[in-house]
Amino acid sequence: MRSLLVTGGAGFIGSNFVHYWLKHYPGDRVVVLDALTYAGNLASLDPIRGRPEFRFVHGDIRDGSLVERLLREERTNTIVHFAAESHVDRSIHGPGAFIETNVLGTYTLLEAARRVWLEERVVAQHRFHHVSTDEVYGSLNPEDPPFVETTPYAPNSPYSASKAASDHLVRAYHHTYGLEVTTSNCSNNYGPYHFPEKLIPLMIVNILDGRPLPVYGDGRNVRDWLYVGDHCRGIDLILKHGEPGQVYNIGGRCELQNIELVRALCRIADEEFAGNPELRRRFASCPAARGIGCETLIRFVKDRPGHDRRYAIDCTKIERELGFKPLVTLEQGLRATFAWYVANEQWWRLIMDGSYRQWIRQQYGQSEGVA
Ligand code: NAD
Ligand code: DAU
Repeated sequence: MRSLLVTGGAGFIGSNFVHYWLKHYPGDRVVVLDALTYAGNLASLDPIRGRPEFRFVHGDIRDGSLVERLLREERTNTIVHFAAESHVDRSIHGPGAFIETNVLGTYTLLEAARRVWLEERVVAQHRFHHVSTDEVYGSLNPEDPPFVETTPYAPNSPYSASKAASDHLVRAYHHTYGLEVTTSNCSNNYGPYHFPEKLIPLMIVNILDGRPLPVYGDGRNVRDWLYVGDHCRGIDLILKHGEPGQVYNIGGRCELQNIELVRALCRIADEEFAGNPELRRRFASCPAARGIGCETLIRFVKDRPGHDRRYAIDCTKIERELGFKPLVTLEQGLRATFAWYVANEQWWRLIMDGSYRQWIRQQYGQSEGVA
């Protein structure tokens, strides 16, 4: 049986991972440690709250004594480390939090794991899985081959630099102390519970409310999109069959220019609205509710400073060694994601209205600490 500590489990990928894990391994213990920053959302864990094998702990990964205590009392044998400041635009405006959480927080977790797992030997076997990003490899030109695991690091934003630093620390704890670590560097994810400051969820909620769709620069920047459920399955494969000390790239083999992606979302919205009077009634501000194409909402705006032009992942290693394959096509994933935001209006409306914190207090009270 695994006893997992999932850091950042109230965020986008972390919450999807917790749902994935408890669905596939209902006998395992899953403890989420999350500081509930602006990006953390207890409502994303609602479907599994109250299950006896699940525990939520409101706390910071930089709190080493809390992390050690959890590792001991839960006899944790697996850490899956998602917690991070994750938004590139925010890192440009305020890099400090990224250094604090992504660098110092990862270091604190590694130290706690070293003490409890390697010095105290509280459990017989352990694994520290570090969730990282393709952005550490920098930016590609159109003719460049996709990133492989040995591509030299060249991070360009404070976010990617802080993730690169955390990757190096994880590697060093394996090399120096023998901590059993694995790292995955993944491309852009999308799907349910995605905070609506990121491209896909922002475009969906803006389409539904008839707000402008801001496309940075010329819209020709390329990202490699992966449905979040496929990312979770990739991490599962690494936990089960990955080799300690190894790094695995995970990607969707799905490169797309931002403008193409936004147009695809507009097309999906147009089609969904055309066939659904209930949608037209609920989201009357959407142009498609009046038979007008959603592409009319697209606006080209000032570019992100230092905007990386292209990311693309070569995931041959995880495909060949662990049998990974993305299962959800972009069209399926975008349609499922659009449908999720339509069906879960309250989830994003509370975030967009800014009443999110107040709502959490009302729902869960102030007592949401270490139980
Ligand atoms: P997110 O911003 O949605 O969630 C981050 C979570 O971490 C939130 O719940 C937040 O409350 C929590 N957190 C932040 N600081 C914390 C701290 N000091 N202590 C405890 N919890 C803290 O992020 P995401 O998009 O789900 O990304 C998760 C991980 O995956 C990150 O490490 C990110 O770098 C990586 N990643 C993301 C993507 C993507 O497309 N979103 C792609 C590749 C890799
Ligand atoms: O590649 C993996 C990374 O993907 C993760 O490590 C990050 O945590 C995650 O946030 C994501 O980073 P990006 O910067 O690629 O994602 P974002 O959704 O912010 O932007 C995607 C692209 O869309 C990017 O080229 C910028 C552009 N964009 C973004 C927003 C929010 C726009 O054109 N308009 C927008 O309003």
